[in-house]
Amino acid sequence: MNRVLVTGSSKGIGAKIAEVLSSSGYQIFLHGRDENALKNLFEKIGVKGFFSIDLTEENAAQKLFDKATEVLGGVDILINNAGEYFYAKVEETPKETLDRLVTINTKVPYELISLATVGMKEKNFGRIINIGSISGAVGEANASLYSMTKSAFSGLTKALALELAQNNITVNTINPGYVKTALLDGTFDDDFSEKELLDMIPQNRFIEPVEIANLVKYLVSAEARGLTGQCINLCAGMSVGG
Ligand SMILES: NC(=O)c1ccc[n+]([C@@H]2O[C@H](COP(=O)([O-])OP(=O)(O)OC[C@H]3O[C@@H](n4cnc5c(N)ncnc54)[C@H](OP(=O)(O)O)[C@@H]3O)[C@@H](O)[C@H]2O)c1
Repeated sequence: MNRVLVTGSSKGIGAKIAEVLSSSGYQIFLHGRDENALKNLFEKIGVKGFFSIDLTEENAAQKLFDKATEVLGGVDILINNAGEYFYAKVEETPKETLDRLVTINTKVPYELISLATVGMKEKNFGRIINIGSISGAVGEANASLYSMTKSAFSGLTKALALELAQNNITVNTINPGYVKTALLDGTFDDDFSEKELLDMIPQNRFIEPVEIANLVKYLVSAEARGLTGQCINLCAGMSVGG
């Protein structure tokens, strides 16, 4: 009951989740696009395997799930972490980007859940955790597409928690506030600085990847078996007002 697939674990939040779970005895399968980063992490933290695939590729979810199953023998715990951000006004968002973010942030996680629940039901055990975003919980101006894809986890999490409650499968979403990773660094420019962002956060600080990894560690544990259908805002106070 300790075989874990973490999507988007070549770097950032996903890599930290993989590292923390691996050091706690879980068997981890890594995923991303950057083959070198995956290989380095594979050697550094001693996980079971990795697979590099772009989630926009045809049948990416099935290919990734098949590889993870081949190496781990099954997936007891699915962490839907891979995601992309996009910042633009709604009328300036290209259709290709709409398709891209819906695929990576929403469609592939749904497909992976659909594939994973089959084995989880057979074992009468499962843990599904989605990494959403505070932008999906409270909205973010000029990031409506990203906010839309992340808020989709809210309905999905509640519906699936009910659907899978009798199968000892829990489903939860973590909505991080701002975390200092490559994804966030890509949003700063001359018009919007890191300091301006920090000033908007009640605790005036970024969330550390390890804070998210430790919450994941709790959610996958036996102690957390009653915690399901929840969207947890780990956001340094951002969800409760400015
Ligand atoms: N950073 C934040 O402030 C923040 C806040 C709230 C929520 N989140 C969410 O947290 C999750 C992780 O974000 P992060 O900050 O750790 O981002 P990151 O450092 O940019 O890492 C993103 C991970 O997802 C993978 N990925 C992205 N697009 C992919 C694609 N098309 N196909 C396959 N893999 C892909 C990347 O793989 P490669 O690098 O190997 O290509 C990488 O492993 C995302 O879902 C993000 O929306 C982040």
